[in-house]
Formats: sequence, structure tokens, C-alpha cells
Amino acid sequence: MKHDVKSIAASTFTEHSAYFADFYRLFHRITRINNGQFGKVVYVTSATAGEGKTTVASFLSITASLSSHNFYLLIDGDVHRPTIHERFNCTRENGLSELLLGEGEPGDIIYKSSFRGLHVITAGKSVPNPFQLFSVERTRELLSEMRRYYEIIVIDGPPLLPVSDSLKLAQVADGTILVVKAGQTPREVAAHAVAILKEADLPLWGVVLNDTGEVLPYYYQPKYYDDRHYQKAKEEVQ
Ligand SMILES: Nc1ncnc2c1ncn2[C@@H]1O[C@H](COP(=O)(O)OP(=O)(O)OP(=O)(O)O)[C@@H](O)[C@H]1O
Ligand SMILES: [Mg+2]
Repeated sequence: MKHDVKSIAASTFTEHSAYFADFYRLFHRITRINNGQFGKVVYVTSATAGEGKTTVASFLSITASLSSHNFYLLIDGDVHRPTIHERFNCTRENGLSELLLGEGEPGDIIYKSSFRGLHVITAGKSVPNPFQLFSVERTRELLSEMRRYYEIIVIDGPPLLPVSDSLKLAQVADGTILVVKAGQTPREVAAHAVAILKEADLPLWGVVLNDTGEVLPYYYQPKYYDDRHYQKAKEEVQ
């Protein structure tokens, strides 16, 4: 998959686009899991940063909306480095953080994208401690209401290895899709992410091999997130 987009307009990704077929297969596969049960929550993550999570989560959601008359929800669960609002040309504030903090109602926060049936919840305001924000119980409760309306809820998350709240989001989802940057992510790093999910007894629904071409070295540094994570990572290896 090679599709470099920063913002996505409804006219730029259609059934005729390159890679639509790939995303359609992924979407179709997800719909059939758990006997075709309606209201699934799928979590998109990767071992490290910059492997293409947001790209995959966005195109998967758009493909779903282009393929069916049901409603779909894309949630930006990466409050460390959110980018869904940039891709869908809306504002970051008034999103997931506010919902989890009880500072807003879903009706006021859900953004209706230009793709029919595709709704978006942006990351919301930046919070000092995202790990505390993501209470598994509170997030599950929030999603349980939304599952009734959306055939699939896609959560775009932070990477599993450097960001501790990523596993919490995997816990609230029914299944995880792991994005692996082809030819770049070392096998043992990807395997570590798979082991984390396995250890937590969380279903891995698929692996997307994303060929993003050039490697941007800074994506691999824990510092990319913020200094706190960097310090923690440093302490762990010392
Ligand atoms: N298949 C692809 N072909 C070309 N460019 C890609 C592809 N997938 C992703 N990119 C580009 O690589 C960059 C990182 O992708 P993306 O934001 O989807 O990764 P991410 O895993 O969400 O990153 P982060 O960990 O920062 O959230 C973006 O500029 C995106 O447009
Ligand atoms: Mg991202």
C-alpha cells in the first residue's frame, strides 16, 4: 500500500482508488468475525511509531462507509500524537478526552465526515496523564452505547511498545489489527507486540503489512512522544 495523504477529501478515495480492494478485504473479514456480530470495536496499533496506523485506520473506516449503508465510527485514541483531525479537516478539541472526562456528550462531540455514514471522534484536548484518562471500565462503558449504532468502531491508537495506554485501548476492543511497516520493523520488534497482545489474552484479528517506502528514523525514538516516555524507556534499559 502506498498512498500518501495528509487530509482526505471524499473525492480522493473512492471504490476506484488504488488499495480500495485491499481495504475492502480487510473490512469484509472484520465484518465476518464473531459470526457477523454488529457493533464491533477494532483497535489499530503497531509496535512502534510511524508504521501507518492512522493511515490504515482512516482508510479502513472510509472503505467501510463506501461499502455499506451502515454507520461507522473512527476514534482517535492517540492523545499523545493525534492526527485524525488533520486528515479529516476538523478540530482536535472537543473529542475523546472531553468524553472520558465527562465534559461533553457524544452528540456534541461526534463529527460527521464528508464520507456518508462515517463519523469521527477526534482526540480532544491534551491531558497531562493519558494513562489515567484511559480507564478501561469508563472507556468500555462509553463504547457500549456506541456499539448499538455503529457496525464497526475503529480506534486509531498509539504504538504498543513505547506507550503504556495503548494496551488499555486494546483491552477495550474486541480485536486488534497490527500494522507493520514492511521491510523496516525488525521481526523481533513486531513479534514483541504480538507477544504483548498474546500475554494479555487479546485477539489479534490481522496484520497489515504497510510499505511506506522511506524510513524516517525519528519515528523510532521514544522521544518522539514526549520526554516523560523517553526518560521511562531510558530507566528501563539502564
Ligand atoms: N503506505 C504508505 N505509503 C506512503 N506513505 C505512507 C503510507 N502509510 C503511511 N504513510 C505516511 O507515513 C507517515 C506516517 O503514517 P501514519 O501517520 O499513518 O503512521 P502512524 O503509525 O499513525 O504514526 P504515529 O505513530 O505517529 O501515530 C504519514 O506521513 C503517512 O502519510
Ligand atoms: Mg498515528
